[in-house]
Amino acid sequence: MSSRTVIRGGLVITASDEIHADILIEDGRIAALAATGTSAADTFTADRVIDATGKYVIPGGVDAHTHMELPFGGTFASDTFETGTRAAAWGGTTTIIDFAVQSVGHSLREGLDAWHAKAEGNCAVDYGFHMIVSDVNEHTLKEMDHLVEEGVTSFKQFMAYPGVFYSDDGQILRAMQRSADNGGLIMMHAENGIAIDVLVEQALARGESDPRYHGEVRKALLEAEATHRAIKLAQVAGAPLYVVHVSATEAVAELARARDEGLNVFGETCPQYLFLSTDNLAEPDFEGAKYVCSTPLRPKEHQAALWRGLRTNDLQVVSTDHCPFCFTGQKELGRGDFSKIPNGLPGVENRMDLLHQAVVDGHISRRRWIEIACATPARMFGLYPKKGTIAPGADADVVIYDPRAEQVMSAETHHMNVDYSAYEGKRTTGRVETVLSRGELVITEREYTGHAGHGVFTPRSTCQYLN
Ligand code: URP
Ligand code: ZN
Ligand code: ZN
Ligand code: ZN
Repeated sequence: MSSRTVIRGGLVITASDEIHADILIEDGRIAALAATGTSAADTFTADRVIDATGKYVIPGGVDAHTHMELPFGGTFASDTFETGTRAAAWGGTTTIIDFAVQSVGHSLREGLDAWHAKAEGNCAVDYGFHMIVSDVNEHTLKEMDHLVEEGVTSFKQFMAYPGVFYSDDGQILRAMQRSADNGGLIMMHAENGIAIDVLVEQALARGESDPRYHGEVRKALLEAEATHRAIKLAQVAGAPLYVVHVSATEAVAELARARDEGLNVFGETCPQYLFLSTDNLAEPDFEGAKYVCSTPLRPKEHQAALWRGLRTNDLQVVSTDHCPFCFTGQKELGRGDFSKIPNGLPGVENRMDLLHQAVVDGHISRRRWIEIACATPARMFGLYPKKGTIAPGADADVVIYDPRAEQVMSAETHHMNVDYSAYEGKRTTGRVETVLSRGELVITEREYTGHAGHGVFTPRSTCQYLN
C-alpha cells in the first residue's frame, strides 16, 4: 500500500499563513512542507503525486457540532454515522465531534457506550464525542472526571427543552464547578426554555400553529437572558464556557461584554444563522418546517452582528449543528403544531463551501475561513495540532479545494441522507475536489474512494484556547 504522497503546487492556507508549497505525506501524517519550486521541495519523492496547481490546499474541516442518529422529537436524525461522515467528507470536513446523550435516570457511561456502538466501524472520517449531560447528580459528576481522562472533554447542558435535556441553574452550576476542577468545557444551549414553553402554550391556544411561530416564541431576548445567566454561573464557578449555536445580536453582545471583562467565554454560530432567516421559516405550505431549529433562525438584521462577531473574534467557531430530519414523515410530525416539528437542519456537507462563499462575498478573509472552520474548533476541543492545520506531525487530513468551480446546492446532488437542502438552488463559488484523511484518499477528484470504518474515535485533550 502506498504510504508516501506528495501534493504539489497548491496554495497552502492555514489559520496563520498562505504559501505556495509542496507537502510530503508519510504514513498518514504531514512529514514536511517546502516552498514550491525550491530544491527542498524537489527532494520530495513519493508513490503518488497530486497536482494541486491553481487550487487551495487546506486542512480538513473540523465540525465540532453534529448529531448523527440523534433521537429527538419522537424520531431519529436521518443521517447515520456512515451516511453523515461520508457527506462530511464530500464537503471537506475530516473530523466531526458528535454528541453522545445521557438519558435521565441513566449514567454518562451508558450513553457514551451507546454512541461508541453507533459510530464504531461506520465512519468515513475521524470523530470524537462531547457528552450531553441531562441528569446532574453525584454519580454523574464523578463520571465527568473519568470521561475527561478518556478524551471526552466537553459537556453540553441545556437551559431549554424542559423534561428532555433541561438542567436547572443549580445543576448547571454543579457541572460547571466540576469542569473547573477537571478541565472539561461546558457547552451551553442558551435559551430560557421555561419561559419559551409558556409562550408556546399561549401561541398554540391562539391558534398560531405554523412553523413561523417557532421563531416568534423562541425570542432573541430569551437567548440573550440565558446567555447572560450561563456566563454569570460560569464566572461564579470559575469555569470556561462555550455557547453553542448563537443566533441573536443580543446574545453576541453578552459574549462580547464577557470577553471584554477577560472571561474565558466563547461562542459558536452556524451557517444557517449566517445565510438563512425568518423569511425561510415563513415559507408557505408548511415548507417553513424545513428551517425549524433551536436556537431559531432570526430576522435578517441579526446576520450583520454574527459576521461582525466572527471578524472581531467575539465568535470563534462555525459548526453546523447538523441534525437532519426529512421533510416527508419527520418534519411533517409537526403539521398543525409547530412545537412537534423535530428541531434541526442538515448542513455538514455545506459548511466549508458556505464559508468559502463568505470569503468570496468579503465577510471574512481566507485565513479566517480556515481559523473558524478548522484550527479554532481543533484548539477549542483539544485536537490541535493533530487536526486543524497543515504542519509537520499533523494528521494528513487535507482538502484540495478549487476556488473557482461553481456549484448549485441541491438535495438532488448532495450526499446527506435527507430529502431536502436548506440551501436549495444557492449558487456558490468554490468546491471540494480531493480529500485525504490520515493520508488516505476519501474523495478523489469528486469521486468517493473512502470506506466506512476508516474513521476512528479520536480522544481529545482539554481546551487549548484558554486565556
Ligand atoms: O435544533 C437543533 N439545534 N437541534 C439539535 C439539538 C440542539 O439543540 O443542538
Ligand atoms: Zn442545542
Ligand atoms: Zn446541536
Ligand atoms: Zn482506510
